[in-house]
Amino acid sequence: KPKHVILTPNLTTCHKSLSDADRPVYCCPPKRESLEPIIDFQFPDISEPIRVRKPAHKVDADYIAKYNRAIAIMKSLPYDDPRSYMRQANMHCIYCTGAYNQQNSNSLLKIHRSWMFFPWHRMMIYFHERILGSLIGDENFALPFWNWDSPDGMFIPDMYLNGSMIDTQRDSSHLPPQVADINYDYFERGLGPEDQISTNVAFMYNQMVSGAKKTELFMGCPYKAGENGFCDGPGTIELAPHNALHTWVGSNLNPEREDLGAFYSAARDPIFYAHHSNIDRLWNVWNQLRGGDKPAIEDPEWLDSTFYFHNEKSQLVRIKIRDVLDSSKLRYAYEKVENVWLNARP
Ligand code: C2O
Repeated sequence: KPKHVILTPNLTTCHKSLSDADRPVYCCPPKRESLEPIIDFQFPDISEPIRVRKPAHKVDADYIAKYNRAIAIMKSLPYDDPRSYMRQANMHCIYCTGAYNQQNSNSLLKIHRSWMFFPWHRMMIYFHERILGSLIGDENFALPFWNWDSPDGMFIPDMYLNGSMIDTQRDSSHLPPQVADINYDYFERGLGPEDQISTNVAFMYNQMVSGAKKTELFMGCPYKAGENGFCDGPGTIELAPHNALHTWVGSNLNPEREDLGAFYSAARDPIFYAHHSNIDRLWNVWNQLRGGDKPAIEDPEWLDSTFYFHNEKSQLVRIKIRDVLDSSKLRYAYEKVENVWLNARP
């Protein structure tokens, strides 16, 4: 028996699962991934260019055209192809609604509301970004990030209102010029733009600084493998702005505020990837704020937790949390932006 048990899915178990409102959903791949060969994750070669993720409200028309083209190709691939848009979206559904059982246990695997949140989503968008780039033959391609913590980014970015970036299942009263309520909780605060912006900035200070001084407060509770390993304690940022903006963007006419508002459907909306790119950036910012060279969490049960994704060559890759702690080794970076909330101490 190993000295610690690793949280990892049993790929032979993909099954019907439940939405947030306990409705049955099915998001499994068409054929058993367990029959596919598996390769271990390898860092991209250091000769690869660094992909620089930019704020979605500042990208230029060429970039938008390029990204649209990549998404259009991705949407045209058949469901059999793990790089296809619906398969990508369903990866989120699988890991978020508990479509896999854990290895050596009948417990479901669900990566939200715990310390799996940041690393798992980093993996998901890392592979997604590289697939998009390979579909258009551009090894510089980088996802944008929705800079909702910056006053000029607190709107649904315009690029998501056209072409392949449109998702019709969004709350129409929250389209631009409506300022986002990054702490939205199903009711309209009714603040004017300036008050909403300053409320948001102050809230960010709380979620990133004053309310996130302890690792567990920011990262979420320690979810471990096995029957009694589950925990339900999302970190500050996961709860809001993360969950809050999922709800705020999703359509108020749908039962679970699909698309963005429900786990099973969230990644069908292209804005999902920019939302998570910003979350991912903020994880780095938090690490810098704590002056961390070493990981905030050194528990091997976290570091060795293992997940599976398809890469741009459609190979099934086994990847551990310890592989994704340093984003520079993954050959992407964030364009530097001012974090105005840093100076918003009340
Ligand atoms: Cu897995 Cu933004 O949710």
